[in-house]
Amino acid sequence: MTSTKNGYFISFEGIDGAGKSTHVDAFRKLMQERYPEKEVVMTREPGGTSLGEQLRNLLLEAPMNLETEALLMFAARREHIAQVIEPALASGKIVISDRFTDASFAYQGGGRGLSLDKLNDLERWVQGRSDGSLLQPNLTILFDLPGEIAEARRSKVRAPDKFEKMDLDFFERVRQEYLRRARNDSERFHLVDATQTPESIWNGLKLIQIAL
Ligand SMILES: Nc1ncnc2c1ncn2[C@@H]1O[C@H](COP(=O)(O)OP(=O)(O)OP(=O)(O)O)[C@@H](O)[C@H]1O
Ligand SMILES: [Mg+2]
Repeated sequence: MTSTKNGYFISFEGIDGAGKSTHVDAFRKLMQERYPEKEVVMTREPGGTSLGEQLRNLLLEAPMNLETEALLMFAARREHIAQVIEPALASGKIVISDRFTDASFAYQGGGRGLSLDKLNDLERWVQGRSDGSLLQPNLTILFDLPGEIAEARRSKVRAPDKFEKMDLDFFERVRQEYLRRARNDSERFHLVDATQTPESIWNGLKLIQIAL
């Protein structure tokens, strides 16, 4: 079987300040070196399209009703999937996204308390494919870090957005929902102990093999 037509979808997840952005570009380069015949597409959520980036600005700054927030997140995701992710995967590209749907379950679900039923409905709506399957990442790299450490790292470098202003309990709920999802889908998730040094984390990331 030739592998050149196979797309591959990787998401980076974890609470704010866990280290996703620190490693995502090096990981993109690693994938590009390993698969020189493949195009590697970098993207992010919320965002990834022009409309999605406009929604991102609203989502990260404007206070809003919880359902509104979830609907806008998934609206941005729908556009991202239709315009960027599905076409890239269909043409055999590797797509790496800084956050995807696990973040909605973790933040709007675990963090803010939106019901799992509503999130599952939105996921089916937005990620459902014509053959009845759901678009999911092939691999999700979860940076796991206690809220206190993430807050200390964040506060060194930038002013907080709406989510980053939340208290430690919020981030602990977000973290626990990420971990619950990782336990329930251990084939898809690769868990990173993000308390390690960047060098150790990178050494671990280099060992990841993808089934392309
Ligand atoms: N392993 C580490 N040890 C110490 N500091 C780190 C480590 N990884 C990242 N940092 C620092 O922590 C800060 C937050 O990291 P980064 O921006 O990568 O987090 P993030 O997961 O992308 O957060 P966000 O979700 O808010 O974008 C940065 O200043 C970064 O340099
Ligand atoms: Mg980041």
